[in-house]
Amino acid sequence: MKGIILAGGTGSRLRPMTSILNKHLLPVGNYPMIHYALNKMAEAGIDDILLVIGKSSAGLYVDYIGSGAPWGIQVSYKVQEEAGGIAQALGLAESFVRPGEKLLVLLGDNLFEDSLKTAVKDFETNESGAWVFLKQVADPRRYGVPELENGRISRILEKPEQPPSEYAVTGMYLYESDVFDIIRSVRPSTRGELEITDVNNVYASEGRLGYSHLSGWWTDAGTQQSLLEAGLRLTGYEKP
Ligand code: G1P
Repeated sequence: MKGIILAGGTGSRLRPMTSILNKHLLPVGNYPMIHYALNKMAEAGIDDILLVIGKSSAGLYVDYIGSGAPWGIQVSYKVQEEAGGIAQALGLAESFVRPGEKLLVLLGDNLFEDSLKTAVKDFETNESGAWVFLKQVADPRRYGVPELENGRISRILEKPEQPPSEYAVTGMYLYESDVFDIIRSVRPSTRGELEITDVNNVYASEGRLGYSHLSGWWTDAGTQQSLLEAGLRLTGYEKP
């Protein structure tokens, strides 16, 4: 299985820090944020990884990660010229994945406790389509939110005013290689982005979207508060 980490984006909610440094290089606990996604890939047994980055701070990623040797993995880089949404960034990885190969996608700002090793193994051998990971949250309106019907996800609503459940669809996704055909078929949303939620909804409408729940803590370190909370958790000052 291939691994793809998406670490582009402008990090507007973390200005002014992101005016000089890309969000995924900001310190979280004792490491730059990107360190944790690489750890999670290595822990899941995925050793061939594409890192999609923006133009800002591009050289610093190479300074820190190099070829990936410190993690025992191989890291390649792809530069996203302009932020166009998660699905657009993922589309840049098409030539990295062979037809028929599966992929694990991590959003670089998602920090979490669970190991993905078992889910990766299960998806590799038993599953098809796509797989998402849900986490119960206090305010789902900030996230993609699943509507659950008879134990299945019927659809996902992106940042809904009235959430259909108390869960967030987290930024870790497993796909078959047909995800690239689906990305080509989705159109930009009202915020002008190719939404990963629209891609996942194609799988949901075809009955090919599976899910499981994360048992440990999870945070999307995209705001000042969540960045601080993640740092505290990762340094052991605050236990879930
Ligand atoms: C993105 C996705 C959203 C998901 C979230 C997880 O939102 O669009 O569905 O719940 O990541 O971090 P963003 O934070 O990019 O707006």
